[in-house]
Formats: sequence, C-alpha cells, structure tokens
Amino acid sequence: MVNLGVLVSGSGSNLQAIIDNMEAGRLDARIKIMISNVPDVFALERAKKHNIPSLVISHKEYKKREDFDQKIVETLQAHRVELVVLAGYMRVVTSVLLRAFPMRVMNIHPALLPSFPGTHVWQAEVDSGVKFAGCTVHFVDEGTDTGPIIIQAVVPVYDDDTAETLNARILKQEHKIFSQAIQLYAEGRLKIQGRRVLTEGFPKAPDAFMINPPAKIFDR
Ligand code: GAR
Repeated sequence: MVNLGVLVSGSGSNLQAIIDNMEAGRLDARIKIMISNVPDVFALERAKKHNIPSLVISHKEYKKREDFDQKIVETLQAHRVELVVLAGYMRVVTSVLLRAFPMRVMNIHPALLPSFPGTHVWQAEVDSGVKFAGCTVHFVDEGTDTGPIIIQAVVPVYDDDTAETLNARILKQEHKIFSQAIQLYAEGRLKIQGRRVLTEGFPKAPDAFMINPPAKIFDR
C-alpha cells in the first residue's frame, strides 16, 4: 500500500479517478493528504466527500517558490507520504520538493511528451495539425515536463476538433493511465535506466497501429 500525497490546483477529475480506483480496490494506494495551492477549487469538495484529509496552502503567501515548496515538503512528510502525485497542479516545482522526493514525484501532462510541454497544449495541438495527441505520466525532474516517461496514451485528432473536444478525449485516457502508473509504482515494477522507465514483468502493449485519417484503401 503506497502512501500518496496529491497536489492539485483545480477541478480534480484526475484525483476523482484515483479515488474511484482506490475505493474499487483496483489501486494499492491511499491518499494521506491532498493539498491545493488554490482556495475554493472543486478538488477540495471531492476530497471532503471521500473523507480524504485536505488543506489549502496558498503560494501567494510565500515570496519565494522554495519557501512555498518547503512548506509543502514539511506537510507531506508530516503525513508520511511516499509518492507525490501532481494531479492538475499548475505550479512549477523546485529542487526543494524534488530533493525531498527524488524520482518520487509523478505528473500527468495532456500531451505526448516530449512534444507540447508547458501550458495551453490542446489549442497548440489542434493548431499544429498533428493527427494524434495524447497524455503522459512522467517522473518530475528539474525541467518543465522533461522527466522520465512512465506511460502514455494516444488519441486521434479530428478535423473538427477544438481545444475543448480534444481536451475531453485526452482527459478520458488521463483517468486510466495515472492510476496505472501509480499501480506500477506500488507493485515495484518501475525501473529507471537513464531517460527510460522500464516496466519489469509487465505485459507488452500489442504491436498495433492507428492511422488517422484511416488508410481505407491500403489497410489490408
Ligand atoms: C489535466 O488535463 C492535466 O493533464 C493538466 O491539467 C488538467 C487537470 O485536470 N495538467 C497540466 O497541464 C500540468 N502541467 P483535473 O483537475 O480535472 O484533473
């Protein structure tokens, strides 16, 4: 059973998926503390409803990012957190947090990293003309969305997509892969080799492909 600390900044739909999987007995983890850096977000309601200890630590009360992160670290450690989960957490974390939890901070990002790091990615994906998009769970390092990749899911991008429709399609997959990444960690299967995260003893994904738009004539 892995003790999680979940950091959020918003709606918390990823938090909800993790809670649902825990409550269904599919995820060997428990949330020891959920921290929001923003007051009054919906994630706080979700935590309350499921009796998960939660609190707000506003970054606005700290002049330096490092001091804010120090407070986060102290709070996580006080709750005996092993793995830190960034579930829609919109702050850049500093080395203060990363040193306290080396390769024990996981982030979900709504793109197929290393493409489209940063923010406003759905519009950027649509505008770029890519035919596939997706999401990534990765360990956090000192860069922005640059850490070792644990798991990814791919979705097609359609001609009539907007940032909103693409976001919704990707979010559905986020809700699956974040729990899967946490479960792989809980089972002790994640082995980091340089930039690569290997999932030891876990089945391979099928040797399948998707073509978008579909190759109707040549797909035989
Ligand atoms: C998710 O799409 C997540 O990938 C993204 O914020 C959203 C949070 O949704 N995270 C980032 O962009 C991190 N840089 P949620 O609050 O409903 O889970």
